[in-house]
This record gives sequence, C-alpha cells and structure tokens, in this order.
Amino acid sequence: MKNCTRYIIYAISLLLILSLIFDAFADDDRYRKRHRYRGGSQKINDDNDDHDRDDYLKPMTNQTYRETCAECHFAYQPELLPSAAWLKILNQLDDHFGEEIEADPDTIKTISDYLETNAADNSSARLSVKIMRSLGSRVPTKITDIPYINRKHHELNPAVFKRESIGTLANCAACHTTAEKGIYDDDAVKIPK
Ligand code: HEC
Ligand code: HEC
Repeated sequence: MKNCTRYIIYAISLLLILSLIFDAFADDDRYRKRHRYRGGSQKINDDNDDHDRDDYLKPMTNQTYRETCAECHFAYQPELLPSAAWLKILNQLDDHFGEEIEADPDTIKTISDYLETNAADNSSARLSVKIMRSLGSRVPTKITDIPYINRKHHELNPAVFKRESIGTLANCAACHTTAEKGIYDDDAVKIPK
C-alpha cells in the first residue's frame, strides 16, 4: 500500500513538471506570434493571445489618402490589406480597375508610407490578423477577394447588389453603419433598401 502511494506521488510530480515545461513553450509560441503581427511601437501585454488585440480598425486619418483615394469609393482602412497588396495597387494607378488615377510622386509617397505603416501585416487588430491568416502568401488587389471577407458575406442575397444604395460588396459603408470608425461588427450592419 505504501509503495502504491509513493508511485502515485511520483506520477503526479512528473505530470506537474511536464505541464510546467509545456506551459513555458506555449507562452513562448504566443509571444512570437504576437510579434509577427504587431507594429514594433506597441507595448506588449502578457495576457492571453487574443486579449491584447484591438477590437476595431484605426479610423482613417490621413488627409492625402482621403483626398486621393476616397473620391470614388469608401476610404478603406489600411488594415484591410497587407502592405504588399497596397504597393501592388499603387504601382498600377494608370489602370486602377479601369480608371486612370493621376497623382504626383510626393502624394504617392505619402499615401504609400501611410498604407504600409498601418497595413494588415503591421496591425494588431483582430480583423487584420484574420485577414492575414486567410490570405497566407496571396497578395490580392481587392479586399473583396480575401477569402475571409468572402466567407463572411456568403449568405447575402446577390440581389441586394442591384440596389443603387449598395452596388457592390466593395461599398462597405453602405451596410456597415460604423465602417468609417473601423468597426465591422455584425451587430452594426444594416442593409439599406
Ligand atoms: C477615379 C475613381 C477612383 C479613385 C480616385 C480611386 N479608386 Fe480605387 N477603385 C475604383 C474602382 C472603379 C474600383 C473597383 C470597384 C469594384 O470593383 O467594385 C476600385 C477599387 C479599389 C479597391 C478594391 C476594392 C474591393 O473590391 O475590395 C481598393 C483597395 C482601392 N480601389 C484602393 C484605392 C486607392 C488606394 C486609391 C488612391 C490611390 C484609389 N483606390 C482611388 C475607383 C477609384
Ligand atoms: C450588402 C451589405 C454589405 C456590404 C456592402 C459589406 N458587408 Fe460586411 N457584412 C454584411 C453582413 C450582413 C454581415 C454579417 C454576416 C453574419 O451575420 O455573419 C457582414 C459581416 C462582415 C464582417 C464580419 C463581422 C463579424 O462580426 O464577424 C466583416 C469583417 C465585414 N463584414 C467587413 C466588410 C468589409 C471590409 C466590406 C467592404 C469591403 C463589407 N463588409 C461590405 C454586409 C455587408
């Protein structure tokens, strides 16, 4: 009987040690993951992986970007695409989805710096992390080509895009009443008539 108790104590101790070792590695992994998605300037909390992520995207604040890029459509937050995608878009402004966009090099540089610094791959927002995971190594030129974004809108009746108030899925602010604020929660969606 005494022997038996001793073995149980050994077993429990062994399990405890193993779980401590495992925990140390798990923390290390979380730490690394956080670094990959985070801009360098933000401070690091030691909580759980998801707790320290921003719930919302940063509202768009760059005046040059607004003037140059929000004339024809919604001013998409930089955090909706990886920096490589933004650069691809800016390199093709002579044929921007059938439109020719003229801007002087200084303007493009300002926009490109703003988009790159705040892009999805440099963001700690939950949505950006999901976008990066969903893309893998793909570099789309459309937010509406991101698998995660498509999945989230799969159930929309295609007929709604015939409504003039909507037109296309790219018209985020038509349905997301808080899109300007960088909030895309499903409880702030209102599909216009
Ligand atoms: C002259 C009008 C015009 C201007 C100015 C303009 N765009 Fe566009 N943009 C378009 C059109 C048209 C589309 C295609 C929309 C569609 O397919 O529904 C588009 C699509 C996009 C998309 C993809 C949207 C999607 O479907 O997910 C992005 C991103 C984008 N533009 C970024 C920019 C940026 C960055 C600038 C500024 C450098 C800019 N646009 C300026 C007309 C414009
Ligand atoms: C025609 C209306 C419509 C347009 C346009 C639209 N959305 Fe949505 N979106 C919805 C609806 C409805 C849902 C909720 C789906 C659900 O209940 O799961 C949604 C869900 C989402 C979600 C997931 C929210 C969550 O809490 O899980 C994201 C992110 C999102 N949209 C981003 C965008 C972006 C970015 C654009 C523009 C490129 C866009 N949406 C354009 C209607 C729209």
